Amino acid sequence: MDHDRCRDCEKEHPLRELTYLVATSLDGYIADPSGGHDAFPTVGDHIDAYARDFPEIFPAPALDALGITPRNETFDTVLMGWNTFAVGLPHGLDDPYPHLRQVVFSRKDRTGQVGGGVEVIDRDPVEVVRELKAEPAAAGIWLCGGSALAGALCEEIDRLVLKVNPVLLGAGLPLLGSSTSRVRDFERQDCRTFDSGVVVLTYRRST
Ligand SMILES: NC(=O)c1ccc[n+]([C@@H]2O[C@H](COP(=O)([O-])OP(=O)(O)OC[C@H]3O[C@@H](n4cnc5c(N)ncnc54)[C@H](OP(=O)(O)O)[C@@H]3O)[C@@H](O)[C@H]2O)c1
Repeated sequence: MDHDRCRDCEKEHPLRELTYLVATSLDGYIADPSGGHDAFPTVGDHIDAYARDFPEIFPAPALDALGITPRNETFDTVLMGWNTFAVGLPHGLDDPYPHLRQVVFSRKDRTGQVGGGVEVIDRDPVEVVRELKAEPAAAGIWLCGGSALAGALCEEIDRLVLKVNPVLLGAGLPLLGSSTSRVRDFERQDCRTFDSGVVVLTYRRST
């Protein structure tokens, strides 16, 4: 974790990173126009690598099925837009990542729609992220998505982990919503190829 100047207290201390770790098609869509991403391969050697490197990003039922206990070494907090969180509701997943602090952004009253471990916040995501980054903590913040929330947080992203799937969707929800921000200062940190056809690209913001 880098030491940086905290925008809140103006002192040097380790700031937590915001990592947008997301699955995308080759043409830059995180879901098809109806919000589905079942075209992305869910089996293959990339899944084993993810389970090893990022166990925290699996929802509780998947962790149980895989027999994994997350250590929260990489992430201890997940951020979701309401639409992303809501994907799990029809499946009874109202507390999908109980091992993490779960923050869901919504401008509506969602009383009774979320499990006990989920905080619903109606605030500017940028302000919330700056506060979270300034909190002393051992692990980072995972921006799960979706497209709209990631677009709103584009300029706060410190690290991108893109799971690029060997699929063209043609249309859908773009990686960064309707954001028109240009951020040029990303440096490649890692590029891993898998037999499944997936490539995982890691970029870190250099300034
Ligand atoms: N490929 C992947 O790895 C991946 C990862 C995550 C999600 N997804 C997909 O992404 C889709 C959801 O993305 P999405 O773009 O439709 O929605 P989203 O970003 O998940 O959620 C948008 C909602 O968040 C709330 N919100 C509150 N403040 C906001 C702000 N400042 N900016 C944006 N949203 C704010 C609003 O909810 P209210 O309407 O309640 O106010 C808004 O409608 C899902 O279909 C999911 O499958 C894919």
